Amino acid sequence: MKKSKITLAREFKISDIDKRIYGSFVEHLGRAVYGGIFEPGHPTADKNGFRQDVIDLIRQIDVPIVRYPGGNFVSGYNWEDGVGPVDKRPKKLELAWGTLEPNEFGTNEFADWCKAANTAPMMAVNLGTRGPEEARNLVEYCNHKGGSYWSDLRRSHGWENPHDIKLWCLGNEMDGDWQMGHKTAVEYGRVANEAAKIMKWTDPSIELVLCGSSARTMKTFGEWEATTLELAYDKVNYISLHQYFNNNDNDSKNFLAHSVRLDDYIKTVICICDYIKGKLHSKHTVNLSVDEWNVWYHSNGAKFEKWSKAPHLLEDVYNFEDALLVGLMLITLINNSDRVKVACMAQLVNVIAPIMTEDSGRAWAQTIFYPFMHASKYGRGSALRPVIDTTKHDTREYNDVPDIDACATLSEDGTEITLFAVNRDFEEDNIVTLNLTDFEDPQAIEHITMCGYDLKAENTADSQTVVPKSAPLPVFDGKKAEIKLAPLSWNVVRFKVK
Ligand code: AHR
Repeated sequence: MKKSKITLAREFKISDIDKRIYGSFVEHLGRAVYGGIFEPGHPTADKNGFRQDVIDLIRQIDVPIVRYPGGNFVSGYNWEDGVGPVDKRPKKLELAWGTLEPNEFGTNEFADWCKAANTAPMMAVNLGTRGPEEARNLVEYCNHKGGSYWSDLRRSHGWENPHDIKLWCLGNEMDGDWQMGHKTAVEYGRVANEAAKIMKWTDPSIELVLCGSSARTMKTFGEWEATTLELAYDKVNYISLHQYFNNNDNDSKNFLAHSVRLDDYIKTVICICDYIKGKLHSKHTVNLSVDEWNVWYHSNGAKFEKWSKAPHLLEDVYNFEDALLVGLMLITLINNSDRVKVACMAQLVNVIAPIMTEDSGRAWAQTIFYPFMHASKYGRGSALRPVIDTTKHDTREYNDVPDIDACATLSEDGTEITLFAVNRDFEEDNIVTLNLTDFEDPQAIEHITMCGYDLKAENTADSQTVVPKSAPLPVFDGKKAEIKLAPLSWNVVRFKVK
């Protein structure tokens, strides 16, 4: 058995948590839209064709924003194809994924779906094959009240009121040569700056996300951020980071240490933002949008019929170790919530997603659904900096990886603390002495855990094998309590405090 200590204090506040760090992503890719959120004729579909079984699951994880419509897809997308009478919309070859895009679902349907799913849109514009002109037209179409060409077009399409979309992405992964309209940092920085300028002239209330690197491993990483930020600094509010992890080598010990790399990536991007802020003598701070993150590899190499509509693409079935890493990534996002203001688990339904559906059938929760649900539900309010004293270990790629990784949140009304913790050790329990230094009369109210499963155990439509369960409540002696964290466990421990 190992031992650790975690100390929390009201005054060790990292930041208020922006609830948008519990965002997600729906791309026109595979069965994310068609057969995912939208399936007219499905037994649970409403009059708009929105699957209510999917919406019920989304409501459980309470996702405040959803990025749309891509992803790689957006870099070849003509948004005008997806508005107006459905029978007049063109079917197009979708070049990012090699499928057929029927355009039966577009911007207005997405805005309606967001309302039904109790979320808000985070809209990406195409800065790949298109540019500032089409981007500002879309802002006018979505956000202007009426009396102008594009806003009146929206009204004529049946949406009298503007959608009032507040958060916009200036393209997607423009640093990647797989992207339609791939650009150098200078080319992209200039276009992003000009698009940002006229999008904000069209609606000054919007916030904008500049494309950062599509991965920390890109050769251009660092220089890309510095160059593009310098060219567009004052116009943008966030810069994006994308981070996917895999366990291709089947080295689970190393896999579970990957959140250390996410932390390093975030901290490095913060340094670059602040370097450019200093260089430009600016008072403006650019924050981070981790707008694609997850585990992604199980489905790689899956075959599908080219140019078919909504094929089964990127349908990773997640296991228990993926849920642990997702928990660790959430801990990392919360611990960096002073600068990470937006984050989107990629994606939401069917495509590398916490929610899966059967065509015309059931919807079900993957293993990764649960840590995301816990963080979204209990990780609101403010983040407290945990002072963690724990044993460490080395893995193939990382040194000094903490056995216990944790974050803590204080609810908005100041009466509840939630500790999120993962024990990375494969064999041993870890007894954590939690010291709630300046909180009065702490009482444990719940200890939820996911532990004891085979690392490769999965959920399916037929069996919810990997699910949260209750663990014994820790008992306080004054301000201290001992909490037992089982080997390879995700833990959510909630306390009432005064
Ligand atoms: O989420 C899947 C894809 O991953 C997105 O389309 C792209 O932005 C990223 O490479």
